[in-house]
Amino acid sequence: MADQGVLIGREGAWHPAGRQRIMTLGRHIDEGEREHPGATGDFSGLLSDLAIAIKLIWREVSKAGLIEIIGATDCRNESGDEIKKLDEFANETIYKAMDHGGHLCVMASEESQGLISIPDRYPKGKYVLVYDPIDGSSNIDANVSIGSIFGIYRRVTASGPGTEEDCLQPGYRLAAAAYVIYGSSTIFVYCTGGGVHGFTLDPSVGEFLLSHENIGIPKRGKTYSVNEGNYTRWNEHFRRYIDYLKAEDPSGERPYTSRYIGSLVADLHRNMLHGGIFLYPGDATHPDGKLRLVYECAPLAYIVEHAGGRASDGRRRILDIMPEDIHQRTPLIIGSEDDVTMAEEFIQGKGDSLG
Ligand code: AHG
Ligand code: MN
Ligand code: MN
Repeated sequence: MADQGVLIGREGAWHPAGRQRIMTLGRHIDEGEREHPGATGDFSGLLSDLAIAIKLIWREVSKAGLIEIIGATDCRNESGDEIKKLDEFANETIYKAMDHGGHLCVMASEESQGLISIPDRYPKGKYVLVYDPIDGSSNIDANVSIGSIFGIYRRVTASGPGTEEDCLQPGYRLAAAAYVIYGSSTIFVYCTGGGVHGFTLDPSVGEFLLSHENIGIPKRGKTYSVNEGNYTRWNEHFRRYIDYLKAEDPSGERPYTSRYIGSLVADLHRNMLHGGIFLYPGDATHPDGKLRLVYECAPLAYIVEHAGGRASDGRRRILDIMPEDIHQRTPLIIGSEDDVTMAEEFIQGKGDSLG
C-alpha cells in the first residue's frame, strides 16, 4: 500500500497522497508568472479572467438539456455554420469576461464576423485573444463532449485599439494557447511556452485542480480520426493513406483503429494522452478543408508541438502559415510525431513504397 500513498482521512478512507500536489490553476499561473522576471501580472490576470468565463460556460453546458440553451439560433456565422444557442452564449460570456480587464487590445471569434473591439471606456492591454467559443457544436444536443479553443498573442501595433494585424499573426508568435473539453469531466489544458498542463474542474469547490502535469504526446499512436464519409472526395494519395491505416500488417494485426467524435478538441485530447492522429484534409469540394487556422488549428498546433507532437496542413507546419483572413480554413493533420510524418509522406506522394 505504501507505494500507493498513505492512509489518510476516515477509517480506511484512502486518498492518493503524495502523487499529485493540490495545485489550483490560479496558483499555477502565478507561479509561472514568477518564473518570468519583470512580469507585470498582466498575463496572470488574463488567464484568470479566462478561467472564470470557462466556469460560467461549464455551468450552462452541464445543464444544457434542462434550460433553453440547446438548439439553434436562426443565424449563421462567417463560416456559414448554423450558430447554436450555446455558441452564442459562450461567445458573449467570453468577451464580457475579457473586455474590461485591461489585458486585451482586441479579440476575434469564430462566432463574430469581424474583430471584437474593446469598448472605449475600458483600458487597452498588450494581448490579443482569438477563440472558438464552442467547438463541436453539432454535438451539443446529443450530449457528446464539446470544447473551447483559445490563442493569446502579444499585440504588434504600438497602442490604442487592436487591429486585424494584431489578430493575423502566424502561430509561432503565440504567447499561450489553451483548450477546454467539457466531457465526463471538464479539463482546461494550457501552455505558455513551456510544458503543457491539464487542470480538472472540481465543481464542489469551483476550482480547476492540476490533474495532468507536463502532458507529453506519445511519439506514435494506434488511433486515427477522420470523417470517412468524405472518402470519395479525397485525392488518391490521401485515400491510399487511409487504406494503409486500415490494412492488416503481414502478421495479420491491424495496427490502427478508428475513433471519430466530431469534436476536434475531444479527438485531440484523447490523442494527447494516448497518441494518435487527427486529420481533416482538403478535398474536391473544400480544397482548404473545414477547420479554421486562426482560432482552431494554430492554438492546438502550438499545444501539440509543446507536448512533442506535430501539426501541418500536409506540407507546411501549421504554426508557420501566415493568416490572411480571420476565418480562413486550412487542412489539418495533427497528433503524434511519427503518425503525422507518415501521413505527410503519403499526402506528398512519397508513401507509395509503404502502401
Ligand atoms: P465547430 O463546432 O467549432 O464549428 O467545430 C466543428 C469542427 C470540429 O470540432 C470537428 O472535428 C469537425 O467540425 C467535424 O466536422 P465534420 O462533421 O465535417 O466531420
Ligand atoms: Mn471548432
Ligand atoms: Mn465553434
